[in-house]
Amino acid sequence: MSFAFGFTNEDLSDDDLNGNNTKIETTQTSQNESALDTFQVRPEHQPQAHSLNQILRTLENVRLTLDNYTTPNGHIVYRRELFDVKHQIMMEDKDVSSKLSELLIERNDADVQSNVYEGGFKSWECSYDAVDEIHEIIDKNRFPVFSSSILELGCGTALPSSFILKQKFEDRNQQAMSIVLSDFNYDVLRLVTVPNMLINWASTLPVEELHRLTTDDVNCRFENNEVLVTEALINEFGRQLQTLNVSLILVSGSWGREFNNVVKGNKIDFIISSETIYSTTTLPVVAESIKDILEKAGTEHGLALIAAKNIYFGVGGSVIEFLTYFNSIKDSHFKVESKEIVDSSLRRSLISIGYDGFNSTVAKSAPRTLSNAYIGNLESRWTTLPKEDQQTIIEELKTRMELPWKELSPAEKKAAYYISFGEWGPRRPLYAPGEKSQIFWIVTGCVVGSIALFAGIKSLAKKPPASLNREWQEKSDEYLKSKNANPFSGYSQIQ
Ligand SMILES: C[S@@+](CC[C@H](N)C(=O)[O-])C[C@H]1O[C@@H](n2cnc3c(N)ncnc32)[C@H](O)[C@@H]1O
Repeated sequence: MSFAFGFTNEDLSDDDLNGNNTKIETTQTSQNESALDTFQVRPEHQPQAHSLNQILRTLENVRLTLDNYTTPNGHIVYRRELFDVKHQIMMEDKDVSSKLSELLIERNDADVQSNVYEGGFKSWECSYDAVDEIHEIIDKNRFPVFSSSILELGCGTALPSSFILKQKFEDRNQQAMSIVLSDFNYDVLRLVTVPNMLINWASTLPVEELHRLTTDDVNCRFENNEVLVTEALINEFGRQLQTLNVSLILVSGSWGREFNNVVKGNKIDFIISSETIYSTTTLPVVAESIKDILEKAGTEHGLALIAAKNIYFGVGGSVIEFLTYFNSIKDSHFKVESKEIVDSSLRRSLISIGYDGFNSTVAKSAPRTLSNAYIGNLESRWTTLPKEDQQTIIEELKTRMELPWKELSPAEKKAAYYISFGEWGPRRPLYAPGEKSQIFWIVTGCVVGSIALFAGIKSLAKKPPASLNREWQEKSDEYLKSKNANPFSGYSQIQ
């Protein structure tokens, strides 16, 4: 099994997976084993936390070239250009991991190997969908994003997290929020993740302030598409993060049990992961990690947002495979929903996994019988109930139905049967009871009425003229015959 990236079309050509180069160095799981327990991580890929400040200092005096990108739903997010990353690698040359330099510079169109580089330098298509979905979540207040503890799993260029940071600063929201940015490669964190967070924050500064922070007597160039990382800019970034109670935590290295232990202390309640389920080897690790991390956070509510292509041709990962796997390991604390995005030939999906640690525990430990008054006679009441009440009854019945069938009361069975198979929603019959006979009598009445009306009008009409009776017609025919009238040559011959 293998996995490859081409770098010829640098910005968005993330469909270049193929099946040639990868050596899988991790173990596969059998059906009953936990992937987290069997997934082997090499010592050099063990997860490691890094200080934001230290990474920022490595960027001092670097000019970041950037561009703005618009998501399918029209939201703007800024991103460091890939050629600029390569430029920095070339300039630093010896200090940077030689394998990475070889991949990105010497083999410009190189395939990228599993366990060396996993595609983090490019922004993948679904990360833009994730940005749109996050905008929706914030806008509709579906989850308190600005006061949550976020993990972007396999962040790469971290557009979703960068967007959240930008929005938080635009809103001047001061609730405590943390973001753990994790990627397989430390260099990805250093060269694109952190720069993108910095750029998106800087985009919220008034232009005079940005000018003041990024220029001095020596570096007086100020361009639209560039940000010079000065000491003043780094200090201001740190100061403003503190003011708005934001902490950024960086973790490099591989997913696995140890990774989950490293992030556990952050009480993650919102996980974002874009384009990380492409490999059948790591897909179960991603699925189990999402469950494990949300459960261990001990928070009342949690949410995971996974953006992915429906199918990763050549490498085996897919949305269906992920959903099947996750559904096989989840319990009633988790609710999985998936929606498809069909705006190009390559279909994509957004999977939401809600975690309800508090409510489900209560429901699970004491799933009380639903009273007859509450769920009785649903057939006559159901369609008049408000949508929210219908949803509550469905959820409560679902919890009850997790018990053995014989423990359900007759009213519960009847209600469950009606909701599943009853005549409502799309199964509602075309005609309500009595409607057919009503239609029959209305149509019959109309026909009889029209006949009566016709007869009435006819009785009032004048007598027809004498020239229209039979006798007149016959005499007229005889006359024409006697005159040898010819229907082809006309009456002129009669005279
Ligand atoms: C295809 S890229 C997607 C990057 C980014 N999320 C996006 O959508 O643009 C896959 C990401 O998952 C990370 N990744 C893949 N396998 C990993 C592993 N075993 N451990 C940690 N990170 C991994 C890579 O470093 C990379 O950033």
